[in-house]
Amino acid sequence: MRTHFCGEVTERLDGEPVAVCGWLHRRRDHGGVIFIDLRDRSGLLQVVIDPDTPEAFALADRARSEYVLRVEGRVRYRPEGTENPELATGRVEVLAKTIEVLNESRTPPFQLDDEAVNEETRLRYRYVDLRRPKMHGNLRLRSEVTRTVRAYLDSHGFLDVETPMLTKATPEGARDYLVPSRTQQGRFFALPQSPQLFKQLLMMSGVERYYQIVRCFRDEDLRADRQPEFTQIDIETSFLEMDAFLDLIEGMVRDLFARAGGVELPDPLPRLTWREAMERFGTDRPDLRIGLELVEVADLVRDCEFKVFAGPARNPRGRVAALRVPGGGAIPRSRIDGYTEFVGRFGAKGLAWIKVNDARAGREGLQSPIVKFLDDAAIAGIVERTGAEDGDLVFFGADSANVVNDSLGALRVRLGRDLELVRDGWEALWVVEFPMFGWDEREKRWSALHHPFTAPVTDDPETLRFAPGDCVSRAYDLVVNGHELGGGSVRIHRPEMQQAAFRVLGIGEEEAEEKFGFLLESLRYGCPPHGGIAFGLDRIVMLLAGAESIRDVIAFPKTQTAHCPLTGAPSAAAPDQLRELGIRVRTPAAAPAPAPAPAPAQGGAPDSAIQTP
Ligand code: AMO
Ligand code: AMP
Repeated sequence: MRTHFCGEVTERLDGEPVAVCGWLHRRRDHGGVIFIDLRDRSGLLQVVIDPDTPEAFALADRARSEYVLRVEGRVRYRPEGTENPELATGRVEVLAKTIEVLNESRTPPFQLDDEAVNEETRLRYRYVDLRRPKMHGNLRLRSEVTRTVRAYLDSHGFLDVETPMLTKATPEGARDYLVPSRTQQGRFFALPQSPQLFKQLLMMSGVERYYQIVRCFRDEDLRADRQPEFTQIDIETSFLEMDAFLDLIEGMVRDLFARAGGVELPDPLPRLTWREAMERFGTDRPDLRIGLELVEVADLVRDCEFKVFAGPARNPRGRVAALRVPGGGAIPRSRIDGYTEFVGRFGAKGLAWIKVNDARAGREGLQSPIVKFLDDAAIAGIVERTGAEDGDLVFFGADSANVVNDSLGALRVRLGRDLELVRDGWEALWVVEFPMFGWDEREKRWSALHHPFTAPVTDDPETLRFAPGDCVSRAYDLVVNGHELGGGSVRIHRPEMQQAAFRVLGIGEEEAEEKFGFLLESLRYGCPPHGGIAFGLDRIVMLLAGAESIRDVIAFPKTQTAHCPLTGAPSAAAPDQLRELGIRVRTPAAAPAPAPAPAPAQGGAPDSAIQTP
């Protein structure tokens, strides 16, 4: 059908006949001559249709946006002064001899170069949306990333092994998507939240180096960097010490950033302990492009009369931290009130602040609602430790360490954006030495910070039992520009240790047997030391593409409410299907009010509630 892609038609082909195919991107009628910008995957090409070719002219005259055309003609230089330097094909045009309308199009739901289309509409007509050059760029980048990863892992002896999609729940901390079994009514498969247990079993199977670019499913609250189904670059190896493993994986990360993104990452990547990350940035995924840091001031305010500070300063689970904002003195009161409201969303009960007008003048040089509660020594100590200078602003958080870290950590990122303090470039690091367990205050129990199969630094199961809060794990996260791109750990490979970990997590022997019996058993049949990691492929591509949302790098994503406006999924199931599955359907009248219906293309909103036997 074609001799060239549109984007390939450059001055090199001057005078030659070509045949090109594509979509009508734009049409201009210049009184007697029609110009068409023809678009295909490779770019845009200008086609000129002269009334001297009446048949082609008539077709061009009635062609509209997004018509699919085939054009035959001859390449020529554009007249001087009419070149378009923005386009690779901008110095030439094709003078059409014949035009064929391969297909018509209804008026498209939006213009391809309109950036402000609402996302529901974009997803509803995703096949039109994906025609945008930017979206094509994202798909190409994604393909380049997976190709680079495969090439790297292949050259380092990794085997690509598939694992089941219809399986049993894996504890990655989200809700499962369930699939009812027809042959065993009342029973359900879970779609995997990750292939965690299978990749460990592959190590027990002697595979030694496994990888898979694999879909994972998590029914969790969605954000800009989360999807209910997403893709992991999933990796597991045997007989490697943690440092050797991280070196191997760093090689892959560096390779993919360089090849797919043209980004040189440092060698080796810096490492930060979890504790240091929390102390300095209030988060385990710090964005190091922002030059603001939290500093601890609890010791300076322990004995002050300001209960808001003294209370948490004396509490072992409390924290009092300061965040200095250089030049922040210019932030008006109304914006400080806005930030106070912002930290409130993270549980903070207030946001104390000090404006430094004259650092050498003691309390006289400060403007603040709290200095009246602080003694001179505390004030001097705070100014010194934060390094505050004239014109700066210092914010304070005082509460449980969790609340202070969450609120000031988020405020740090917010200020970085608002004050344009985010440096250009790439800041990648490993966060290591995570605690094994975190105390869940609401449920009054320990939970695994990574997952229950993560090995502690200690080799003694008793340590887990007596001091779970002090146990450090062999987990690691790769963080780039404030995003957790990947996480993994050395695994427990001895049954006693695995049982000890389950015990801390409140998973009794019976439950452990029922849920993970197959894993515990496999540990008893010669399990090699092993460990691994999983990267969020979508997040990597999102970062490299400079996209705002993970949805822009997934061909057919779900919305924030986990539905697909294109297909209308999830949709109601036919009564016959449900009967076969042994799922009883309550009539709509008896059912609770259905969730507000998304505007589905077909299928409609669920009109029945379902019940299992
Ligand atoms: P984890 O749960 O940390 O670890 O997941 C690994 C990486 O997957 C990405 N990710 C997501 N991306 C998009 N949408 C989501 N809903 C989503 N959830 C996670 C993140 C994250 O870093 N089995 C372990 C890995 C291991 O121990 O080897 C696991 O799944 O980038
Ligand atoms: P108050 O004594 O409640 O008027 O608070 C005085 C100042 O301390 C105000 O600026 C509050 O925003 C701030 N503040 C109150 N509680 C906290 C807290 N837990 N952490 C940080 N600042 C707080």
